[in-house]
Amino acid sequence: MKQIADLQDTDLQTLHRDVQAEYDAFRARGLALDMTRGKPAPEQLDLANGLLSLPDNRDHHSEDGVDARNYGGLQGLPEVRALFSTMVGAPPERIVVGNNSSLAIMHDCITWALLKGVPGAPTPWSQGPTPTFLCPVPGYDRHFAICEDFGIRMLPVPMTGQGPDMDEVERLVADPTVKGMWCVPKYANPTGEIYSVETVRRLAAMRTGAPDFRLFWDNAYAVHHLTDRHHAIANILDLCETANHPDRAFLFASTSKVTLAGAGLAFFASSPANVRWYLERAAKRTIGPDKLNQLRHVRFLKNEAGLLRHMEAHRALIAPKFEAVTSALEQRLGGTGVAQWTKPDGGYFISVDGMAGTAKRVVELAQKAGLALTPAGSTWPYGRDPDDRNLRLAPTYPPLKDVRIASEGIALCILLAAIEKTLLSSR
Ligand SMILES: Cc1ncc(COP(=O)(O)O)c(C=O)c1O
Repeated sequence: MKQIADLQDTDLQTLHRDVQAEYDAFRARGLALDMTRGKPAPEQLDLANGLLSLPDNRDHHSEDGVDARNYGGLQGLPEVRALFSTMVGAPPERIVVGNNSSLAIMHDCITWALLKGVPGAPTPWSQGPTPTFLCPVPGYDRHFAICEDFGIRMLPVPMTGQGPDMDEVERLVADPTVKGMWCVPKYANPTGEIYSVETVRRLAAMRTGAPDFRLFWDNAYAVHHLTDRHHAIANILDLCETANHPDRAFLFASTSKVTLAGAGLAFFASSPANVRWYLERAAKRTIGPDKLNQLRHVRFLKNEAGLLRHMEAHRALIAPKFEAVTSALEQRLGGTGVAQWTKPDGGYFISVDGMAGTAKRVVELAQKAGLALTPAGSTWPYGRDPDDRNLRLAPTYPPLKDVRIASEGIALCILLAAIEKTLLSSR
């Protein structure tokens, strides 16, 4: 198709009529499809059903003889920390295994930083001027929601295709009120971006105005590959240590999208000082984590090869859904110049940038046609996308046939909204 911007007025009006008619027909199908949250599909959860009968009721002891049914073991069983060491990117002694949600661990870290301060902090964050977090955009709405809830100021930083714009990051972190930065370094939510070695090195080495600055390194998609290219990122803990900032990074990960989203394992990892800090705080909060679930995970996945095999089974289920979305977008929007979209090698999302000023309208059109999309703006701090352009698509949950239909509908809505916008601005 021709670029929409190059069409003569009459051609544009004809196209509008045709696309509107297609949209009306789509809407008349009375669909109810949901592409909002990045949840695993039931078939993905079925892959982990083996967990449900583990551990065997005659063997609920860890390798070193700990009875997993009892209290204690705050840092997590050693064999679990060893199994996930590569995925988390830290040696076992620097890993803490929590319960099912890494987001909860991030929330704890922010609460404790605000109320107690982190190692190296002159005061708790809440006792100084309003703390600020750098937020690469588009980004993860739940990260932004934690900051908003605690009144932490958020500054958006653009992504570049190699991670955040590091010139901008280095400029902004000189401000001592900047206490933290959200990073999803691999297969980022929602752009699928992978931080380059250079980006990671600069994040580790940069000068920060705050001595207690922390990278919130949320490696949620460490092993969630969608292709044969199993991308690796540079090790942030090692690079921070080399740069003489050993305490800079708080690492987070989980098996929410490996085993069971509501009953997985979550991880915190960091420097020895930060791990001590975390465990001191955590000891006031709990007498110990769910070690039966830890044991269950080791018995089920067995070793790193088992973990990677399991992720291949996920890939077989979800890669066709990603393919369905990108080929529908290509078919309908290719050459029109109205949108760009990502083709991620991993993770859970496709990010679409439509024509400026159309994202809200796309979501509205989709909703009227029975397609639930993530609200426009949700990939930005405070839900405000200044260009009203970005859309996050989450194709994993619905069945493949629904993803196909929904993707055609979404592409149609993006096109219709762009034509409407172009007609309006040509008046
Ligand atoms: C970047 C990112 N971090 C964290 C989470 C949630 O992790 P958990 O289930 O471990 O709380 C998600 C879920 O979508 C995510 O996309």
